[in-house]
Amino acid sequence: MSESPSPAYLHGFSPVEQARLMKQARLAESTLFSRVDYTGARRVLEVGSGVGAQTEILLRRFPDIHVTCVDLNPLQLEAARRNLAQMPWYRDRYELHQADATNLPFEPRSFDAAFLCWVLEHVPSPQRVLNEVRRVLAPGSPVYVTEVMNSSFLLHPYSPNVWRYWMAFNDFQYDNGGDPFVGAKLGNLLLAGGYQDVRTEIKTFHFDNREPGRRKTMIAFWEELLLSASDQLLDAGRVTPDVVEGMRREMNDVQNDPNAVFFYAFVQASATVY
Ligand SMILES: C[S@@+](CC[C@H](N)C(=O)[O-])C[C@H]1O[C@@H](n2cnc3c(N)ncnc32)[C@H](O)[C@@H]1O
Repeated sequence: MSESPSPAYLHGFSPVEQARLMKQARLAESTLFSRVDYTGARRVLEVGSGVGAQTEILLRRFPDIHVTCVDLNPLQLEAARRNLAQMPWYRDRYELHQADATNLPFEPRSFDAAFLCWVLEHVPSPQRVLNEVRRVLAPGSPVYVTEVMNSSFLLHPYSPNVWRYWMAFNDFQYDNGGDPFVGAKLGNLLLAGGYQDVRTEIKTFHFDNREPGRRKTMIAFWEELLLSASDQLLDAGRVTPDVVEGMRREMNDVQNDPNAVFFYAFVQASATVY
């Protein structure tokens, strides 16, 4: 398992992937933000801010906050700069820093809230990140951490190539020092990091015949998510072109199936620093 702070990044940093992150944030917004509350906070630290997709949502939903974004990758920061510049009314309310989440360039108590979303799954030591985040937070700071729980994924009708691909996707991430199952571990990680008031909530995307439109949108998005790793998985010999082709065909079939079911659960933890 790699000890480097940035293991092979499964999704890559292409413009297609950067657009996917924007779409993903909006698709998940109502589910992901339903309980996020930064009332009283002013200086929010966003770790692993990517292309600024969640930053835009944070700035829009919480008009009193200033967001300090940290990401390791300069291409992501460049895209974030471009994306956020399209909303000039936010100009003075955010700043972007290139830094490793395990070694933040900030003094203790620099912030009074933190937001982490889909980043701990990509780091070799989520504990080190959470310890470091706690170091730079002032007492009373709320923290929200949202993470994947990839064993929860289910698609109906049964789609064998999708499962083969999904296993390879998760194995690859795990073998490269990430953790596609980190969601279930957030409670332990936060407790071990000295956080208090630790709570976890299981959030679900469960789409069936009750919401055919949203189901279709989600399945199409999910195919993009899977494809974001296809070059890496093919290069690493983790999947064959046949499996990729089969996965695409099955995703298309499920998307058009009148009785399809899409299910995925993820975990959002909240905690306070004292
Ligand atoms: C899947 S993206 C999520 C971006 C954003 N939070 C969102 O929800 O759209 C994960 C981001 O974490 C960043 N990242 C990975 N390891 C990191 C580290 N050690 N320190 C800071 N950022 C890191 C990656 O560069 C990438 O932009």
